[in-house]
Amino acid sequence: MSARIAVVGSTNMDLVAYVGVAPRLGETVTGREFRTVPGGKGANQAVAAARAGAEVVFVGAVGNDPFGPELRRTLADAGCDVSRLRTVAGPSGIAHIVVDDEGGNSIIVVPGANAGVTGLDDADRAALAGCDAVLLQLELPVSAAAAAAEAARAAGVATVLTPAPAGELDPALLDLVDLLVPNEHEAAALTGADDPEHALDALLERVPEAVITLGGAGCLYGARSGARTRVPARSVSAVDSTGAGDTFVGALSVARAEGAGPEAALRFATTAAALAVQRVGASTSMPSRAEIDVELAKP
Ligand code: RIB
Ligand code: NA
Repeated sequence: MSARIAVVGSTNMDLVAYVGVAPRLGETVTGREFRTVPGGKGANQAVAAARAGAEVVFVGAVGNDPFGPELRRTLADAGCDVSRLRTVAGPSGIAHIVVDDEGGNSIIVVPGANAGVTGLDDADRAALAGCDAVLLQLELPVSAAAAAAEAARAAGVATVLTPAPAGELDPALLDLVDLLVPNEHEAAALTGADDPEHALDALLERVPEAVITLGGAGCLYGARSGARTRVPARSVSAVDSTGAGDTFVGALSVARAEGAGPEAALRFATTAAALAVQRVGASTSMPSRAEIDVELAKP
């Protein structure tokens, strides 16, 4: 049976400028290319999970501007259930992104419609119940994430939180998280520990399982039960890392829901993320299940 995943999260239109070296404050540089690409951490995780083989329901909002229908269509085209995606008056969320020649990025997010998602209604809660996992990030008001985590706990559904963008984390929300997936910067911000091993120790005092993603250095997994694994990244040349972390989380959640153990699930997720960094854009770069399986079978 396929994995059933709910995502309660953001949709953004990514406005991406590709440039050799990103400008510093006060500087103007000439870019190479501009693209509008559907993104948003929530929508990215939903598309990644759907492409990786899950049945996905998405809870969130788009605006009634021209970006709204395109953001909705991107989720629907990936096979996500968009019956819980609202269209609200005003602009959609946007992300203003600079991608440099190394494939690295910096991002400004303007929440738009996402800011209006402050909680869940009964139909949203019904959509979560019966899922294997609910995926949360921090691009919606924290009250929505908290409501989703509470509903998930009540329904016996696992909560996977990506604490991004980094910032204050409500301790009450953290108590409801089953699997936390920060990158190394977010892990350091949450714990005050720069060393990922130490950060992981500190995180496991708060949540039963955590994965710290380390970019090109792979990832570090730990469980309160004592299990620990480091999985190396696949060495690829990055074109655009936008959405790679979201691809990782979406794919990881699918593998876990299908019953894969930590090690196998992390290899699956790492492989999906490696494919995503080799293509431009967020939603445009997420691999299909077939592509992940082919890549996984390579030595
Ligand atoms: O994680 C990548 C995403 O962050 C982008 O798609 C952008 O929308 C920002 O939200
Ligand atoms: Na990408």
